[in-house]
Amino acid sequence: MRLALVFVAALTLNACSREAAPGGTASAEGDGTAHPEIWPEYKYPVPVDPAVEAKIADLLKTMTLEEKIGQLVQADLCCVTPDDVRKYNLGSILVGGNSGPNGNDLSPAPDWLKAADGFYLASVDKSDGGVGIPVIWGTDAVHGHSNIIGATIFPHNIGLGAAHDPALIERIGAATAKEIRVTGQEWTFAPTVTVPQDYRWGRAYEGYSSDPKLVASYVGAMVRGLQGTPDETNLLAHDKVIASTKHFLADGGTKGGVDQGDAQISEEDLRDIHGLPYGPAIQNGVATVMVSFSSWQGKKLTGNKSLITGVLKDRMGFGGFVVSDWNAHGQVEGCTNNSCPQGLLAGLDMYMAPDSWKGVYEDLLKRAKAGEIPMERIDDAVARILRVKFRLGLFEAGKPSDRPLAGDWKVLGSPEHREISREAVRKSLVLLKNQGVLPLKAGARLLVAGDGADDIARASGGWTISWQGTGLTNAMFPGGTSLWAGLKQAAEAGGGSAVLSPDGSFTQKPDAAVVVFGEKPYAEFQGDRATLALDADLTGPYATMKKLKAQGIPVVAVMITGRPLYVNPALNAADAFVVAWLPGTEGGKGLADVLIGDAAGKPRFQFTGLLPAAWPKTPDMADGALYPFGYGLTYATPRAAWKALAEIDESSAGDARVYFTKGVPASSWSLVLGNIDRGEEKRITTVPADAIGGRAHITATDAAVQEGARRIVVSDGGAALAVSSHDPLNLSRETNGDVMVLFTVKVSKAPAKAALALRCDGSGCGSREPVTLPVTNSFVRYGLQLKCFAGKGADMSKVTAPFILETTGPADYALAEVRLGTDAEKVLPCN
Ligand code: BGC
Ligand code: BGC
Repeated sequence: MRLALVFVAALTLNACSREAAPGGTASAEGDGTAHPEIWPEYKYPVPVDPAVEAKIADLLKTMTLEEKIGQLVQADLCCVTPDDVRKYNLGSILVGGNSGPNGNDLSPAPDWLKAADGFYLASVDKSDGGVGIPVIWGTDAVHGHSNIIGATIFPHNIGLGAAHDPALIERIGAATAKEIRVTGQEWTFAPTVTVPQDYRWGRAYEGYSSDPKLVASYVGAMVRGLQGTPDETNLLAHDKVIASTKHFLADGGTKGGVDQGDAQISEEDLRDIHGLPYGPAIQNGVATVMVSFSSWQGKKLTGNKSLITGVLKDRMGFGGFVVSDWNAHGQVEGCTNNSCPQGLLAGLDMYMAPDSWKGVYEDLLKRAKAGEIPMERIDDAVARILRVKFRLGLFEAGKPSDRPLAGDWKVLGSPEHREISREAVRKSLVLLKNQGVLPLKAGARLLVAGDGADDIARASGGWTISWQGTGLTNAMFPGGTSLWAGLKQAAEAGGGSAVLSPDGSFTQKPDAAVVVFGEKPYAEFQGDRATLALDADLTGPYATMKKLKAQGIPVVAVMITGRPLYVNPALNAADAFVVAWLPGTEGGKGLADVLIGDAAGKPRFQFTGLLPAAWPKTPDMADGALYPFGYGLTYATPRAAWKALAEIDESSAGDARVYFTKGVPASSWSLVLGNIDRGEEKRITTVPADAIGGRAHITATDAAVQEGARRIVVSDGGAALAVSSHDPLNLSRETNGDVMVLFTVKVSKAPAKAALALRCDGSGCGSREPVTLPVTNSFVRYGLQLKCFAGKGADMSKVTAPFILETTGPADYALAEVRLGTDAEKVLPCN
């Protein structure tokens, strides 16, 4: 089994290749129009019940046009009330990653059930003479009921991919469905069946594997676990919910791994790599499919009729309903967030219109009345949604709190579910190196180091309670066990001991050390990287590993990560190396099960995990894989001498979103000083330098490092300091994703007036935002939302200078850094 997997992978996929086109000879240069006849045909197995069909036909006759349009629209909890649902007859609501009942992302579980009742009761209120179709509530339960405090958090999909165990996946689905039912929701936006081909993508961990066959082998199991078998009706009378396979199609195939980007691949690759998992999804009766934000061959999926209607519905026979992604319709050619009939016409049945639902509703209604949208298309979309609602048994289920499992708080994070998650953790661990230090002996004295060791949020990753998985403490995971806590419990249970020491210092020499390191949580977009290197600020534990080893202490490196990354220094430094992925709330227990052996020094559990994607040899993936897909050692693997891996100088590896650092522009960037309005500009290449006719003087000054900033002294008048790019940048995705332009300055003399500006090629460019930068005696990292410029009409797809600081009057300030990010010390207001 093990060998076979390694072999197949070597032949089929190299997850590191940028132009992933395994075996694909066909052209990637099409116009985004698919040919359904070359796609496989499937049979949607959900039985068609004539009695239900008759009820749907009756409803379609009775419902007003307004009621029909309402069914097609889904609003986010951020921006909708039960009264809105009553008035507009909305078909669905959702909670996005950052929303929750009562405007609180961290609302306790009982509030979710209360909110579910409130929305349900409003939806079935017929006092206005309507038909009162019950609403359904969707949530991103993507690794357990992961928006809810106290839920069991399972390993993220990439870890499950390492477990190569479809039966386990089905049990995880079933447990997740039960926990969702406790808080009254009916629908999860899962499973993600993406097949990532470039792990620089920040959502790669949401996918099980880079191998389409492995992903496809899981889909049916997860769909059955969540929904039950296709012939199961009345899901709400049992312990099931409806699923949504996402994101259709090739969300993991975008060029460069750019989130919401463009998959520039042939139709054959689109079908054979990214389309493969949709076969088992359909064959297992998945109730909904979510369309991807991304494009194929330059065309947004959300408006692609040939794929949504031609391929998915007509050819592959998908009989459920199609939902769009978060305002994704607004990105379709010719659409805005508030108007996009193109989506419905392409085959979308429900619009995820979080804050834009009213605009979408009114626009669709107006156009339907004007005859711009055929009534058959509207009726078909409504019928598809109603069919799923009947399958749920929604019309008989009563209010959420009256349904089975509702309010059964002990099911949320129950010991049974945590046990499944713990098993999943054990099976997901991948052993890349073991020079004899593992298993750790029961009874040993352990040191646990690394800043992530006692951090459940860090071990859980994005899409955990909050959107990006940030801003959480261990207290928000009641019942969960950090890696440190799990190791400590197991060490003590075996008669040994453990101490936590993030920096690796100790007073009593340990028998062995476990150093936990790796990525910090991220989700959509914010996790995109330019290379497959671990962020430089996260490599501190390498030194800890070396220091411990130099003191004669055997070191086990445990890596928390959403993807395979170049970590050769850690692989070299540690005596054993374990990839833990994003193990979730039971990470500590599952990890300790496998790492800590019995009193005789024998393993209590085996390593069985295999890499779900190839491991890179270099950050730029230049030399192919260090370890291929399917690789993983066991306790039985014969030990070989360790051959030191080449280590590159990471200080030279740039981050694509750092434009100016340590007082100098990044490569292909310039620092320019001038009076932009008068067209006088000077590129500052050496210091000291004068500019603007002697009115400004630039020197080097110290910041975090010696000469780590440029000091600009302006004697009087207007001046503009810009960090500009040689090539226009496309910052549209960053703008959507709430990213800021961050600049680190120390102001010694505040200018009379200051503004931040952005320059781009095209309309609205040169827009500015007045700012106040007071005198401070240390550097401050300010941030302004890119949205601020977009709101002023700037074309964010062609930015040539993301940072321009304009000043009037005498000024004296130093600039240390300009980059994009979300970690501002002071957020500047946008007017
Ligand atoms: C994501 C989806 C998610 C939705 C709702 C989108 O931004 O792409 O995966 O289901 O938000 O939170
Ligand atoms: C929401 C997410 C959504 C994202 C889209 C966030 O504010 O909470 O659910 O996926 O926006 O960019």
